[in-house]
Amino acid sequence: MLIVKELLDYIKYLKEKTLIFFYWWDYPQFLFFDKYKEKNQTKIITIIKKVFKNLDNSDSFGLYVHLPFCNKKCRFCGFYSEINRNNLIDDYIDSIEKEINWYKKIKVDFKKIKFSSIYLGGGTPTLLSSVQLERLLKLLFKNFKFLNKSQRTTEGTPESLTENKIKILEKFGFNRFTLGVQSFNNDILKKYNRNSSLKEILKTYKLLKKSKIKYINIDMMLGLKGENKSVYDNYLKYIKKLAPDQISFEILSPEASQIFSKKEKREMIHKVHEMEFFLFFYITKKMGKIGYQNLGNKDRCYYFIKKQRLSHNVINYQITNHRKSFYPVLALGQGGNSKLFTSSGKLISINNTTISIQDYVHKLKENSLNKIAHIYPRIDVLRSFLIFNFNFYGIAKIDIINNFFKNDVLIEFKNIFQPLLKDKMIEIKKGNLILLDNYKKLSKNYNLTEREKYFFFVVNYLYPQKIHEKIRNIIIKKKT
Ligand SMILES: C[S@@+](CC[C@H](N)C(=O)[O-])C[C@H]1O[C@@H](n2cnc3c(N)ncnc32)[C@H](O)[C@@H]1O
Ligand code: SF4
Repeated sequence: MLIVKELLDYIKYLKEKTLIFFYWWDYPQFLFFDKYKEKNQTKIITIIKKVFKNLDNSDSFGLYVHLPFCNKKCRFCGFYSEINRNNLIDDYIDSIEKEINWYKKIKVDFKKIKFSSIYLGGGTPTLLSSVQLERLLKLLFKNFKFLNKSQRTTEGTPESLTENKIKILEKFGFNRFTLGVQSFNNDILKKYNRNSSLKEILKTYKLLKKSKIKYINIDMMLGLKGENKSVYDNYLKYIKKLAPDQISFEILSPEASQIFSKKEKREMIHKVHEMEFFLFFYITKKMGKIGYQNLGNKDRCYYFIKKQRLSHNVINYQITNHRKSFYPVLALGQGGNSKLFTSSGKLISINNTTISIQDYVHKLKENSLNKIAHIYPRIDVLRSFLIFNFNFYGIAKIDIINNFFKNDVLIEFKNIFQPLLKDKMIEIKKGNLILLDNYKKLSKNYNLTEREKYFFFVVNYLYPQKIHEKIRNIIIKKKT
């Protein structure tokens, strides 16, 4: 067991030294879990072929396409994207076709999978012209079969979305749009190098509202310089007026931004604490009053759903479908990360080894695309499933876990479950593993943020023992 002091030293180390606390995107920190790196192309191909051949739950699969193009780099952004590359979009779509062909050449039969979701992410997918968007979607819908009730999402910015592009999305049955608003304040938008103005946000929102796209989510950033209570009150006024189905409040992860200097990042990190407090006690209350429910999340992003619209399809399926199953995702494009599972319950995460849009286009032209696979053993797949589900929902369904691992996990992984049950961190009720509030007591004498309390619990109960030793070594090294 790590003591709180050790954990705090460790968090301090992460913040100061690497400037990476656990960023919500790669939470849990797989980085510390056992993984086996496979670079041998023949072996990777064998693994991929086997995964697709053994699929027995072929209607639970997502397709993700990464479109890493942006007109400007927003100062807060932590996502991989490139500017000044719009001239390569046509080549990029050709390359996606070639990447699909790469799979076909190794005899992966996509047609036997009924995809239950498609997500165009980025970057800024709406930077594609209507002609390019239609070409990309034709290509995808020719090669992949989607369930009628599949969730079809794209994200985009207000200034780049047009009526024509919406029509094309409608034509291909897109039923969810994530609009990057970030702020309803023009000064803040400008300060962070956003392309869109409040006027454009409102205009585009109107277009979306009258479209056939059923669910609209807006992304908001909290913790930016210039925000204060009256700015937030103003945000809430707009939210009430626009009434989107979902709002994702992302608290700025300064450590993730690619533009802030180290000094700026350090200055901003303390704000996270303040923001968490604010979100819990102020925004959640106010959002409740205007009809939104907070989907419990102990991490840094807070999803609010409009109560009347509460349905499975409101939230990004490729994230939340974990609750129902271990959801595999095939990713295409530069920066995409496929997540596949073997029949023995291992997780295989696969990336292209290319390093930029240009490199990706070039390698595919030359037919020399290489991939790298990270392989995680089943015990770590279980760990990450529990960490994610407890964080998001506070519960995990035992039958889903048993089905996935084709075994009684309470017995197979009793080393994990026994301490959790014995120390009353979780209880079993109606086939569910339920996280109890007791986990907060572990660090009750310290003034920790919600995520730090959860992190403390996770490190002690759900990280492998040997990681405690690694952490101790890091702290000792730091002190000497
Ligand atoms: C790929 S972007 C969204 C798409 C689109 N390019 C846009 O800007 O609207 C995904 C979301 O992550 C959030 N985000 C980006 N950088 C972040 C950071 N450093 N910390 C927290 N959230 C961040 C923003 O809310 C953003 O909307
Ligand atoms: S927030 Fe969106 S538009 Fe801004 S740089 Fe990131 S991906 Fe591009």
